[in-house]
Amino acid sequence: MTAEDIVNLALRRSLFFPASEIYSNSPSGFWDFGPIGTKMRFKVLDFWRKNLVESLGFLEIHGAQILSEDVFRASGHLSNFADPIVKCKKCQTVFRADQLIQEHIGSTVAESLSTPELDSLIQKHQVPCKKCKSKEFENVRKFNMMMGIDVGATGQQKGYLRPETAQNIFVDFARVFKTSRKNLPLGIAQVGASFRNEIAPRNTLLRERELGQMEIEVFFNPKKINEVSDFGLVQDYKLNLLLQGKKEVSSISCKESVEKNIVSGKLIAFYLAKVQQVYSGYGFPSDKIRFRELDKDERAFYAKETWDFEVKTSHGWIELIANNYRTDYDLGRHAEGSKQDLSVTEDGEKFIPHVFEISAGIDRTLYCLLDTTFIREKRGQGERVILNLPVQVAPYLCAVFPLMTKDGLQEKGKEIFQNLLGYHLDVLLDEKDAIGRRYARIEEIGVPFAVTVDYDTLQDQTVTLRYSKTTEQKRVKIADLPELLWKLSIGKTTFETI
Ligand code: GAP
Repeated sequence: MTAEDIVNLALRRSLFFPASEIYSNSPSGFWDFGPIGTKMRFKVLDFWRKNLVESLGFLEIHGAQILSEDVFRASGHLSNFADPIVKCKKCQTVFRADQLIQEHIGSTVAESLSTPELDSLIQKHQVPCKKCKSKEFENVRKFNMMMGIDVGATGQQKGYLRPETAQNIFVDFARVFKTSRKNLPLGIAQVGASFRNEIAPRNTLLRERELGQMEIEVFFNPKKINEVSDFGLVQDYKLNLLLQGKKEVSSISCKESVEKNIVSGKLIAFYLAKVQQVYSGYGFPSDKIRFRELDKDERAFYAKETWDFEVKTSHGWIELIANNYRTDYDLGRHAEGSKQDLSVTEDGEKFIPHVFEISAGIDRTLYCLLDTTFIREKRGQGERVILNLPVQVAPYLCAVFPLMTKDGLQEKGKEIFQNLLGYHLDVLLDEKDAIGRRYARIEEIGVPFAVTVDYDTLQDQTVTLRYSKTTEQKRVKIADLPELLWKLSIGKTTFETI
């Protein structure tokens, strides 16, 4: 399987495709999702919501995408959210400087290098322009990735599209905390679009300019970083940790990671465990996931400790989640910028809460799921493509296929479909084409089950239930379908045991 296979599947089935694609000059880095892609994206975030937000007792908000300039002055994004760029003097192409050097010399270039340091590296290694091969570049300069907008008719008020959904959460923290009547630690989550004027958007959903994020900010009392009531549940759970300077992943229990000061406290180990458990639940195999510890030079400007959750794909290791210990940086900066009191009082002591952040990309998660579950199999003379998605993140649970559109089969199919919908089961109805083609169509988008309505159905009120992964079929009663499919959807039964 190659990256091209994923793009072909995405375009063939309209999972996702370039935004404004009928206009040839449209900017890159923006993607639209078709009906099936939208369902898949929804399933990805629904799984995250159930398992990382609701089950942990966290709260979710929905904030505006455009925020005041003051927010980003205080957060530091207006001054710090910049990448180094360099322009070729001959063909005028602009590159991200660190990446251009990196690709030429074949080893990592620290993001934190100053612009003169990057200039010297370009000189030293005689880095050529990737497009025209010239070695003449302008000086490296910083390019801020914030997307600004003039608000209102006067053009005098400036707003910015948020570069991370996290900022609404910080700005809204005091209000949400007070009105929720909850105690610390408190997680506040948000799902939505963020915007970054990326210099080189590429690899479809992996580097976008409009990106979907699912973020959680856990606010806590720093003095109680080791007071985690449920720590016992994860203390022996092994985290896949790639420690700074190491080449191999170490399997280290949460307890040991705290005792050896590998993480700053139990709270961090606890949430890393939750992340690893939930992402294993998405179906990412254990040997393809890891937390990579970032060194000081690689971390974002607000982070004291960062564990990037990465997945091994056909593009190599891809970061899906930034797990950042942001300390009191954000609330402190916003308290100063807004002159509002954002502190909390606990045990008679007033303090600015610290934050541990779990910042995941929706679209990257979806892309990596496609990448890691895509299978091409021999089938007779030909081959079949199957997405081996876990049931929980499949776009639909089951397809209903009337064998024919005559002799009452179509009506029976519709009746079964409507009945299953009535049980809130995620089903689709497809009446077109030969049955083999219909099976192939659902296999390549990861729908695990299909119900076929045939002539026997009209006689004995049974249907064929087919399991896409194995192509195995079993005869089941229509009356049993709702409960059976529900049990299959939550793992209470398996196809083998029917
Ligand atoms: N609030 C912290 C934050 O935004 P980040 O590492 O910049 O941290 C978090 O982004 C996650 O958002 C990444 O791990 C990735 O999944 C996703 N992401 C970031 N930039 C992206 C881009 N240009 N395109 C697609 N996803 C992106």
